[in-house]
Amino acid sequence: MRILVTGGAGFIGSNYIRLLLGTGGDERVVNLDLLTYAGNLENLAGCEGDPRYRFVRGDIRDRALVRGLLAAEGIDAVVHFAAESHVDRSVEGPEIFVSTNVLGTEMLLEEARAAGVARFVMVSTDEVYGSLGETGLFTEDTPLAPNSPYAASKAAADLLCRAFHHTWGFPVMTTRCSNNYGAYQFPEKLIPLMIANALADKPLPVYGDGRNVRDWLWVEDHCRAVDLVLRRGAPGRVYNIGGCNELANIDLVTLLVDRLGRSRDLITFVADRPGHDRRYAIDASRIMAELGWAPSVTFAEGLARTVDWYLANRAWWETICSGAYRDYYARMYGSRGAAGTTPGDGP
Ligand code: NAD
Ligand code: TYD
Repeated sequence: MRILVTGGAGFIGSNYIRLLLGTGGDERVVNLDLLTYAGNLENLAGCEGDPRYRFVRGDIRDRALVRGLLAAEGIDAVVHFAAESHVDRSVEGPEIFVSTNVLGTEMLLEEARAAGVARFVMVSTDEVYGSLGETGLFTEDTPLAPNSPYAASKAAADLLCRAFHHTWGFPVMTTRCSNNYGAYQFPEKLIPLMIANALADKPLPVYGDGRNVRDWLWVEDHCRAVDLVLRRGAPGRVYNIGGCNELANIDLVTLLVDRLGRSRDLITFVADRPGHDRRYAIDASRIMAELGWAPSVTFAEGLARTVDWYLANRAWWETICSGAYRDYYARMYGSRGAAGTTPGDGP
């Protein structure tokens, strides 16, 4: 297969490209990524010299570029990760989320359909379902009720995929996964942010009462699931992917602090995220039954590997934390009443 991966320099996309190239097959992998603040070619160090791999810096909204690439590379499959992915940033400024996630996906779908692409995987999110109460799980039939601008933009993209399949029979499969964690996650997200702050003995900003629940999925398990959907998923079908690991934020942060041997006194409750979804939890029985997927690690194992990775790769995240991210952090957390909690400085 000749596969176009969009957003392959981000967290999940780079893990996916490593999975593809690591299997030793002869597939061609073209990575189209704009290298926004979240894209980082260091995530793919080691892939550059591989003759099966090509990186193209560019925008999924650049129609001429996308059209030319699909034709020149003879692409027959697209795995679409590229997006603006952070909820807090979408609360600060929704416009780029609509532009990239909605218009970008629509354009990619149009061009892929015109080029006769045979398989298209849309990497959507469980956040399109909205928020759960104390009980219950999201199934693929749960009505979409996105709450944040990020989730709304992903729901629009997800529904465009549905429409392209319904209207033209375009072979798109959609995945809706829960919160990923693992190596190369940008430190704005909960787990790496807490690791970086704890290692610097900085306050750990927990939103609201800390009882919001997320279902944590190890990124490499997620990537295996996406790959199964690419190869064996039924066109037009939606697949939930979850880690079967529900945890309240405060319990997760406490686990991390203990594991890192830091003081629990670092935990600081800060102003809540506006519209903060209370609980996400995935019923992944469809992908398990139909495609034989299952998570390969327990949460304890996945978290241990993740912490070890951040400890062994301090330079990777310290570089990020000392750049433009500092301004983001000061703005975002200053406004939450956690000013002065600059991440990543030495203790
Ligand atoms: P990320 O923010 O780490 O990476 C996104 C990548 O997309 C970056 O490399 C960025 O440079 C690139 N990009 C952004 N705009 C682009 C554009 N216009 N053209 C080309 N490239 C562009 O995101 P991630 O965490 O790896 O998430 C990947 C996908 O998975 C996203 O679609 C996200 O919505 C979805 N998802 C993520 C999670 C999670 O827990 N991280 C959970 C559910 C769904
Ligand atoms: P996040 O990693 O941003 O993922 P998402 O919002 O897509 O679920 O956040 C995970 C949870 O952690 C969410 O409930 C918000 C919370 N959170 C904090 O309490 N403090 C933080 O500094 C961050 C980034 C998130």
